[in-house]
Amino acid sequence: MVSNQKVSIVTGSSSGIGLETALTLARNGYFTYATMRNPEKDAPIKNALKKENLPIKVIQLDVIDDESLKNAIDHVTSEAGRIDVLVNNAGYGLVGALEELSMEEIKAQYETNLFGLVRVIQAVLPTMRKQRSGRILNLSSGAGLFGYPGGSAYVSSKFAVEGLSESMAYELEPFGIRVILIEPGFVQTNFANSMVIAKKAQDPTSPYSQMMQRIAASSSELAKSGSSADLVANVILDAATNPNPRLRYLVGKDVEAWAASKKSMDESEFFNMIKKIST
Ligand SMILES: NC(=O)c1ccc[n+]([C@@H]2O[C@H](COP(=O)([O-])OP(=O)(O)OC[C@H]3O[C@@H](n4cnc5c(N)ncnc54)[C@H](OP(=O)(O)O)[C@@H]3O)[C@@H](O)[C@H]2O)c1
Repeated sequence: MVSNQKVSIVTGSSSGIGLETALTLARNGYFTYATMRNPEKDAPIKNALKKENLPIKVIQLDVIDDESLKNAIDHVTSEAGRIDVLVNNAGYGLVGALEELSMEEIKAQYETNLFGLVRVIQAVLPTMRKQRSGRILNLSSGAGLFGYPGGSAYVSSKFAVEGLSESMAYELEPFGIRVILIEPGFVQTNFANSMVIAKKAQDPTSPYSQMMQRIAASSSELAKSGSSADLVANVILDAATNPNPRLRYLVGKDVEAWAASKKSMDESEFFNMIKKIST
C-alpha cells in the first residue's frame, strides 16, 4: 500500500537526538518509524503518545545486525510503500589514545557509526530511487570536522561519514535524492554516559591515563552547556523540509565558533586552541 502521508525513519530513537527527531518529524506530519535496537526502551515515546496523537510507530532496528535491518526495512516498505526521510542517528563515542585502542574496539566503533549507516542507506535507496525523491540525513559532528586527543576512532568514523555523504550527494542528485550532514557540537543527551572508554585507557599505569582523564573531565564539563537535543531535531526538520537544503548544517554556538576558527586560524594556532580546550 502506498500511503499519501510522508514517511520518515529515524535510527537510535530510544534517547537523545534520535528521540527528539522522531517526535519532531511526527509532530510535523511525517508518519515516523522510530527505530531502536531495544524496543523495551520505548517509554519516552509511549509517554509522548499518552499526551499527543502522533503518527509514530516503534520498530526494532539494530544497525549492526543485517537480519534486523532487513526485517525493519521490509516492514516499512510493505506497510507504507514509501520512504521520504532517513535520519541516520544511531552512534556512540569511543575514547582512547590510538596506541591503546584494541582492533576490536576500533572495529566495533566503525561497525556502528560507519558500516551501520551504510547498511541502512543501502537498504532504503532502492525505494527512494524508484520514487525519484528522498532525503538522507547523516549525523556527523564537530568531530567530523577536526580531530582532538582521545578521539581518533570516533573522529575518524565521523570524517568517514563526511566523505561518504559528500560523494553520495553527487551520485544521488540525479535521482532527486538529497544527502545532508548534520554537524552538532556538544548536545545534552545520554552520549557522555554511553561513551566507551578504551580498556587500556582505564589502567592507571597507562602512559596516556592522565591525558584521558583530563579529556573525559573536560568533555563532561563542556557537555553540560551543550545544545538541547530539541535544537538539533529542529535543524533536522528544517533540512528535511527545506526546498533547497544545504549539504552541511552546523548545530550549536560551540561548533559554529570552532568551525569559524578552523577557517580563520592557521593550523598550529587551531591545534593549540583545541589542545587548550580538550586537555
Ligand atoms: N551528544 C553529542 O554531544 C553529539 C554531538 C555530535 C554528534 N552526536 C551524534 O548524534 C548521534 C546521537 O547521539 P546522542 O547524542 O543522541 O546520544 P545518545 O542519547 O546516547 O543516543 C544514541 C542512540 O544510538 C543508539 N544506538 C547505539 N548503537 C546502536 C545500534 N547498533 N543500533 C541502533 N541504535 C544504536 C542508542 O541506543 P541504546 O539506547 O540502545 O543505546 C541511542 O538510541 C550519534 O551519532 C552521535 O555521534 C552527538
